[in-house]
Amino acid sequence: MKTETVTVNLNKRSYDIVIGPKLINKATKIIASHLPSTRLAIVTDANVSAIYLPTFQESLAEYDIGIIPVVVDAGEKSKSFPVLETVIDSILAAKLERGDTIIALGGGVIGDLTGFAAGIVRRGIGFIQIPTSLLAQVDSSVGGKTGINTTHGKNLVGVFYQPKLVIADTAVLDTLPLREFRAGYAEIVKYGLIDQPGFFRWLEKNWRTVFSGGAERVEAIACSCRFKAAVVERDEHEAGERALLNLGHTFGHALETATGYDAERLIHGEGVAIGMVLAHEFSVRLNLASSDLVERIRRHLHTAGLPTQITHIPGSLPDADTLMTYIAQDKKVTSGALTFILTRGLGQAFIAKDVPQAEVRAFLLEKLSRHIDCRR
Ligand code: NAD
Ligand code: GLY
Repeated sequence: MKTETVTVNLNKRSYDIVIGPKLINKATKIIASHLPSTRLAIVTDANVSAIYLPTFQESLAEYDIGIIPVVVDAGEKSKSFPVLETVIDSILAAKLERGDTIIALGGGVIGDLTGFAAGIVRRGIGFIQIPTSLLAQVDSSVGGKTGINTTHGKNLVGVFYQPKLVIADTAVLDTLPLREFRAGYAEIVKYGLIDQPGFFRWLEKNWRTVFSGGAERVEAIACSCRFKAAVVERDEHEAGERALLNLGHTFGHALETATGYDAERLIHGEGVAIGMVLAHEFSVRLNLASSDLVERIRRHLHTAGLPTQITHIPGSLPDADTLMTYIAQDKKVTSGALTFILTRGLGQAFIAKDVPQAEVRAFLLEKLSRHIDCRR
């Protein structure tokens, strides 16, 4: 199967995303050629390290590279101040310098946490992303957003810090739990819904082979990276257009915060899936789009095994006012109005800067009134 390379063109900070099966075995050779020194830290989580760290370490040893492994707990709760401190302590205790390298080997949690640590330790140590979840391969490893969560909300503390290289081995996704694969798939669908209606139609036809690991998997990942790279090149720091990539995230992040980042209840990509349906439903409510569109999107996400409505989240949720507080933290409020990503049709998302808070609250009240806590 072919290896694809997508370049993110950011002048001196440009980098390649190399995508293809069984790359992790060859990754060490690619990495060795990128290393400015012979010392590096590898930050990973307990799940990923158990499967991939030993062989990865062995193959790097061939190049006489000194490795400092840093293993943190798996899951969203590791995107926190205490875990960030542990990672930074390990890097400083090993006396890594600016000219050394930090590798993020794992999903989006590891990429966001490691990228943030790399961006702030000694005011910036070079880092390489080796994303091992589908979500990280199609979204979080690309574009340089790094950070952690706080009790006030998701990703509220962080920096823009681009990696030097991204290596996405599409075969490592075979060990990813199906639920996590589905969650990553939601971010792939997102690109179609933003401004790639042809890609969405292609996914409707080909999603099964994306899941089963055919050539379509590499193609879907490469297309997603290409779409994202193009946006990031035009608007690296989200002064405008990049906000489109947050389609579904305003509702999704609020739901993640509301569920206390509890993976038993909701993981990021699931929040995005529900959030994207809500964003489309809300667009219908504002007479911007047709209800057929919502049904089409809901059907596709549901067929791929994703949750599509608030009622699919187990356990109780806070009231609409609390959700509004999280939403207000996530997106800036100006004179009582919110910025939202809405749509006018399939692949016609746009940034709406004047959404009245009262409309959003009324919409949420309606959605929450249908939420039954099945665990009671
Ligand atoms: P994650 O990092 O928690 O990984 C999901 C789970 O899969 C974890 O339990 C992990 O241990 C396991 N895993 C990962 N790769 C595996 C493999 N190959 N085999 C077996 N298990 C594996 O979560 P995620 O879904 O990858 O990322 C979600 C995070 O990404 C969220 O925090 C979200 O906010 C962030 N994100 C960031 C950006 C960005 O631009 N920086 C974009 C989208 C999402
Ligand atoms: N995932 C949103 C962004 O990278 O901007």
